[in-house]
Amino acid sequence: MANVIGGFATSHVPSIGGAIAKGLQRTPYWSPFFNAFDPVHEWLAREKPDVAVVIYNDHGLSHFLDKMPTFAVGAAEEYRNADEGWGIPVLPPFPGHAALSWHLIESLVADEFDITTCQEHLVDHAFALPLKLMYPDAGANWPVRTVPITINSVQHPLPSALRCWKLGQAIGRALDSWPGAEKIVVVGTGGLSHQLDGTRAGFINKAFDQLCLDKIVSDPEALTRYSNKELIEQAGSQGVELMCWIAMRGALTGRVSKVSSAYHVPVSNTGGAVLLLQNEPLPQALAAE
Ligand code: DHB
Ligand code: FE
Repeated sequence: MANVIGGFATSHVPSIGGAIAKGLQRTPYWSPFFNAFDPVHEWLAREKPDVAVVIYNDHGLSHFLDKMPTFAVGAAEEYRNADEGWGIPVLPPFPGHAALSWHLIESLVADEFDITTCQEHLVDHAFALPLKLMYPDAGANWPVRTVPITINSVQHPLPSALRCWKLGQAIGRALDSWPGAEKIVVVGTGGLSHQLDGTRAGFINKAFDQLCLDKIVSDPEALTRYSNKELIEQAGSQGVELMCWIAMRGALTGRVSKVSSAYHVPVSNTGGAVLLLQNEPLPQALAAE
């Protein structure tokens, strides 16, 4: 039985890639963000996940406005990163896990999530940077196989927070029924509050971000009661990337506890946040094995 050992979430601001390329991680501007990864690296070195299921929003590299899936699942043996115009160095390709992807797709469709399947899929900064943050020394040899799952947070109408929570729960059920022995970490990327355009460009809501960081651990369903309009009011028009955190949390079906979290503003124009959760099987799940 598949073993979802944890959930991890981080902001995915493109300038993080620039800071890594220039070696600025321990400078005063960047260190409050990058230091948050020290406990994450310790946990990854100890727990050694085999697979990362990465829930994120594509920003136009793979899905553009002319054809925008609400939810899509990658089903390839490899995912290439490419130049998406932010000036971030392109990272080496990421290994996929097509068999697990197809298991997820079968299970999600049976669960009435009519997702788009992507046998070719370029991964943008929202997928690549979190993996680079998790594994800074990986080079071309990523230590995890990956499954990318995208949520449309770019072109309205967007799925609701509640729908993304239910998607996450369906992903959790699918992973729990995977017969393989891989250790799996579910990753959610994006947010927290930010707005890149319009009259509120630069908007950050620290109080709301801290509420989200608290609720996502202990009472995630509280976050599913916000409408998209309310989320945009509270978190900014791009702050809806919180959806990916909510879906990640929904996929953790065991006993969830916080390993570490950090919050720092600003990271570029964003409330920068990092969260690591441990997921332990419930006693009844162990008994059923
Ligand atoms: C920024 C944040 C994002 O999530 C993104 O995709 C692009 C830019 C920013 O804060 O600059
Ligand atoms: Fe983004």
